[in-house]
Amino acid sequence: MNDITEHGYSRRDFVKLAAVGGGVVFASALPGCAGIQQSTSGGAVNADFNFVQLSDIHWGYNNASVNPDFTGTLLKAIAAVNSLANKPDFVMFTGDLTHTTDDPKVRRMRLKEFREMASGINVPVRYMPGEHDAALDRGEAYQEFFGSAMHYTFDHKGIHFIVLDNTSDPAAILGDAQLQWLKTDLTAQKPEQPIVVFTHRPLFALAPQWDWATRDGGQAINLLMPFKNVTVFYGHIHNAHHHMTGHIGHHAAMSTMFPISPFGSMEKKTQLLWNAEKPYDGMGWRSIDAGGAAAPKWVDIALTKS
Ligand SMILES: [Fe+2]
Repeated sequence: MNDITEHGYSRRDFVKLAAVGGGVVFASALPGCAGIQQSTSGGAVNADFNFVQLSDIHWGYNNASVNPDFTGTLLKAIAAVNSLANKPDFVMFTGDLTHTTDDPKVRRMRLKEFREMASGINVPVRYMPGEHDAALDRGEAYQEFFGSAMHYTFDHKGIHFIVLDNTSDPAAILGDAQLQWLKTDLTAQKPEQPIVVFTHRPLFALAPQWDWATRDGGQAINLLMPFKNVTVFYGHIHNAHHHMTGHIGHHAAMSTMFPISPFGSMEKKTQLLWNAEKPYDGMGWRSIDAGGAAAPKWVDIALTKS
C-alpha cells in the first residue's frame, strides 16, 4: 500500500485496481532508476505524469492450456488501465501486438482486430512492432495499420522518448541506418536530458540463445551512455526483469497473454501452463511515474482473478 502511494496512486486507484483484478507484484526500489534520480537537477523536466506500458499482447494466440482467456486478457488489462483515477498521459505498447502467422491476410486481420480493441483505451496510445508483427514482412502489414514510423522520437513534459525497432529486420538488429539516426538524434540532446527508450527486444545480451538480445544493441547502449539519465523499457521476454548496464536501467515488462520461463529456470524457453490455483499468474502490465522532481518509477501490476 505504501509503495502504491509513493508511486502516485491514490487509494481510489488501488481500490479500483483491486476491483478489476490488479495486484502489485514488483515496484522500482532504486535499482535501475538511480540514474534518473541523479539527473533531475537539469531543470528540463516540468511536470509529474505517469504512463502505462503494455507488452506482448499476441492477439491471435489460442493455446488454452497456457491461457484459456486468450480473447479476454487484453480487455481485462485495458479495463484496469481505464479505471485508473490517476489517468496516465499515454499508453505505450512495446510490440508483439499480434501472434505471428505465415498468412498475410490473417496477419492483417489480427492487426486490425488488435487496433480496434486498443481504441477502447481512454488515453492516447502509441505503438511499436515486435518480431511477431513485423519480422516476416519487414513491417509491411504493421505499417498499413500503425503508420510508417517503425522508429521515432517524441518529447513529453521534459522527457525525450526514443522508440527503437529491433524486430522488423529478421536478423534481430537495429541496423546501421537506424543507429546513425539515433546518433544524429542524440547529438541534439544535452547530457542532462532525461531519456526513456522503448524497445521490443532487450538491447543488452540477456540470453542470445533464447533470442533475448539485439545483435547490435551494444552500439545503441554506447551511444546512450554519455547521458546521465536513461531508462529502457522493453518487452519480448514475457517476464518482469531488471538489469543495469552501467548507470542505464533496462526493465522488461510482463506479457498480457502468456508468461515464459525465466532464463535459466528451464533448459528451453517454455510457455508456462495456466495455473488454475493462480489464474493469470505471470501476466500483467506496468505503470511508470515520470517527470517533475522525482525519478521515473515503475510498478509491475499482475492480472489476477478478481
Ligand atoms: Fe512476445
